[in-house]
Amino acid sequence: MKKILAIDAVGCLVDLKGNINKSISKILKKIDNKKIVLTNADNKEKKIFLKNISYESFSLKHKPNKTNPKYYKKFLSKYKLQPNEIIYIEHDIKAVKSARLNGILTHHFDGNIKNFKNFLNSFLNKKQNFPKKNEINFHYYPHHPVVIGASNGKKVNFMPCVWNSGMSYDPFLYGVSVRKERYTNQILKKSRFFSINFLDFKNVNLLRSLGRSSGKLINKTREFKIEYSNGYFSNVPILSKAYLSFECKKKFTKTYGTHTLFVGKVELIHTDNKISNKSILDISKVSPTLYLGADHYVSLNKKTLKNLKKMPFHKSYSAKNIKLIT
Ligand SMILES: Cc1cc2nc3c(=O)[nH]c(=O)nc-3n(C[C@H](O)[C@H](O)[C@H](O)COP(=O)(O)O)c2cc1C
Repeated sequence: MKKILAIDAVGCLVDLKGNINKSISKILKKIDNKKIVLTNADNKEKKIFLKNISYESFSLKHKPNKTNPKYYKKFLSKYKLQPNEIIYIEHDIKAVKSARLNGILTHHFDGNIKNFKNFLNSFLNKKQNFPKKNEINFHYYPHHPVVIGASNGKKVNFMPCVWNSGMSYDPFLYGVSVRKERYTNQILKKSRFFSINFLDFKNVNLLRSLGRSSGKLINKTREFKIEYSNGYFSNVPILSKAYLSFECKKKFTKTYGTHTLFVGKVELIHTDNKISNKSILDISKVSPTLYLGADHYVSLNKKTLKNLKKMPFHKSYSAKNIKLIT
């Protein structure tokens, strides 16, 4: 069901003489949601305030006024509405608070039409929902998965991890977020070093296999015939197929809800000869793997590459204050 748009009469849709606010009226005409005008007006006031309004209206004739939360309770009950079925525009801040106390999403209209429009755009044209427990949302992907390599001295293990990020330039820190149940989590808790490996899209099947099997039960390197070498530091397995690998020394470990964030200091960087000396990836040679969630993978469309290097920086972006990495 489309949300109902409730709107204050005097102060929003009309003035004290009942003249229509033309900007608001124009916007409302373009919206086909049901509209209800909320007012305190008694019969005499209605004749003035509502004389130019064609939308249906609701009033308790000052018994009580909108500043009393009971007003909105009665309004919801009359229309058999749940608070999340309406959005509301109100000019009086006390009335705004009393509507909000009833759980009604309310915009405080202070005369700014642009803010009013943006509010409608967000809350009428877009869907809102509060995240539910255990509900997974992948809409914020794609993101590039890395493969964590770790060893406990007896077994070498590799695990894809899409929740990864660079965390600091100097020192060069890289973080991976690993669910507590993973075998990799057990290893990382104990080990001093681990590797982060980036795979080309042509190796996406391997990545998927590593992410849908557990080192708890099998030896992944044998099972998937994984080629790897020992790193410079001890117990750091490096995936041979990776176009880029970091050898990391574990620096920080912190648990956030279901996951543990392991932050490593990048001590050694391995790049294959396809990667030039420039700081950005040459996507004519390497196709980074991106993950869309739920076993869906994608790579970059090279045609979309845009080089904005020549576009001037805004004056607020002073080279004196910000160390620019080119
Ligand atoms: C593309 C992809 C990305 C993943 N990202 C993560 C992640 O960020 N964190 C995590 O804990 N598990 C992630 N997983 C799940 C683990 O890789 C998976 O559970 C794996 O079997 C764990 O292996 P292990 O038990 O040998 O450590 C991902 C899986 C895939 C396929």
